[in-house]
Amino acid sequence: MFNAAIKAVDVVLNVSLSRRTVLCSIRHYCKKSPKKLRVSEALEGSDVGSNITVEGWVRSVRSQKDNLFVHVNDGSCLQPLQIVASSELNDALLTFGSAVEVTGCLKQSPSRKQPVELLADRINVVGGCDTLEFPFKIKERHGLDYVRQYPHMRCRTNVFSSMMRIRSAASAAIHSHFTERGFIQIHTPVITSNDCEGAGELFQVEPSGQTTEPDKNFFSVPAFLTVSGQLHLEVMSGAFSRVYTFGPTFRAENSQSRRHLAEFYMVEAELAFTQSLEDLTKVMEDLFRSVTEQVLDRCSEDVDLFHQRVSPGHRAVVEAMLKKSFTVISYTEAIDILNRSSHNFVFPTTWGCDLQTEHEKFLVKHCGNLPVFVTDYPYDLKPFYARDNTDHPLHTAAAVDLLVPGVGELCGGSLREDRLDLLTARLAQAGMEDTYDWYLDLRRFGSAPHGGFGMGFERYLQCILGVDNIKDVIPFPRFSHSCQL
Ligand code: 4AD
Ligand code: MG
Repeated sequence: MFNAAIKAVDVVLNVSLSRRTVLCSIRHYCKKSPKKLRVSEALEGSDVGSNITVEGWVRSVRSQKDNLFVHVNDGSCLQPLQIVASSELNDALLTFGSAVEVTGCLKQSPSRKQPVELLADRINVVGGCDTLEFPFKIKERHGLDYVRQYPHMRCRTNVFSSMMRIRSAASAAIHSHFTERGFIQIHTPVITSNDCEGAGELFQVEPSGQTTEPDKNFFSVPAFLTVSGQLHLEVMSGAFSRVYTFGPTFRAENSQSRRHLAEFYMVEAELAFTQSLEDLTKVMEDLFRSVTEQVLDRCSEDVDLFHQRVSPGHRAVVEAMLKKSFTVISYTEAIDILNRSSHNFVFPTTWGCDLQTEHEKFLVKHCGNLPVFVTDYPYDLKPFYARDNTDHPLHTAAAVDLLVPGVGELCGGSLREDRLDLLTARLAQAGMEDTYDWYLDLRRFGSAPHGGFGMGFERYLQCILGVDNIKDVIPFPRFSHSCQL
């Protein structure tokens, strides 16, 4: 009678009784056809008493004399759903890592460890997993260094799946932050003929198998993967006042460092009618605070995993960043602080030198391990677009970097040179007047003082989660000598 009922439901569901499908004599056979739920939805508990189906991957299997306990995770949240079944449902293929489809009745759990559990009638192993070959082992806590070796598999670990959910939530928070403040999103091009930063870290784009002789370029001119969407945002800020972009950015940096990638995501904003660096620092600080608050709120369990297991003590650092205002010092003050310190830096400091990571980290510590804006850098250190501080005694540019704990530089921005004569002279000096004639047009026709900044998205995640290596905060890292998958 009972088996007949199960068969009838299976026919309705069009589910074949495969070899791997194990039916059991479960008492909780519900009459209605099962509703498919994500694990996160099941854990909310509003479907207690209903017949449901969940699909996911097995995180643990424990078999006792009469009962079988299986934890299933489907990536919708950190917590797995506990499945309780008769041990008759056990199957050799039901192992750690296997893909399963489970149907049964959702019940309140008698244990405090989980709010609900699924009393399974049916466990269908959709895809087996050879646990000897599988790189992750049940009950073992694999470190980030270890899981990084398996870019195609690491999303099956708790730590990396938490990271991906946080990344997704942070990305959504960035879009809503700007949208709520009246910024227009611009899809700036990935392929471009300009080198915005002028640092020569470009990847050239040509059809494969073709030479790169000047007159044979596919695009007629040499074209590159973008290093920054800034110049295109500047175009758009001249019509929409406030614009932003958030997309992939590419730099051919021959670096194996823990904070550089060849492909990374950058959030960039550009504001017209902007007169001072303070206008920009306010926007940067506001962005950092509001996105971080949203991430802490929406992904609390995932963030806790990092703050408890990956970087113990980091929660206090993040809370202090959110509570206190960011410090502002000038580059000249920063050099004074560094020169006065007794710390032995690998790179000595004098006015005019570029700040290295060791200097940036020292300055952050010096300012109470809180974010610090460094303003007014030497003019010669900054790209052609940075506004000349002609009223300063030292030759500086109205540029600002935001330095943060654990990472160093998180954001770089500046007021843009809006004076046509000064900009023309600087471009002429670099022999780039013709290439950037269109850029000069922006100053010729309805020019308004403007400025903007870029924030490295991966460095932002490193900063709020306390992750040491940038390769652990991006799904598929690309860096010199590595383009796996
Ligand atoms: O300081 P950067 O080079 O500034 C610009 O590109 C400006 N055009 C942005 C603008 O004003 N619209 O880069 C901005 C940020 C850096 O502060 C850093 O956080 C990140 O981008 N970044 C990198 N992140 C990972 N890997 C790399 N190779 C990076 N290079 C820069
Ligand atoms: Mg920079």
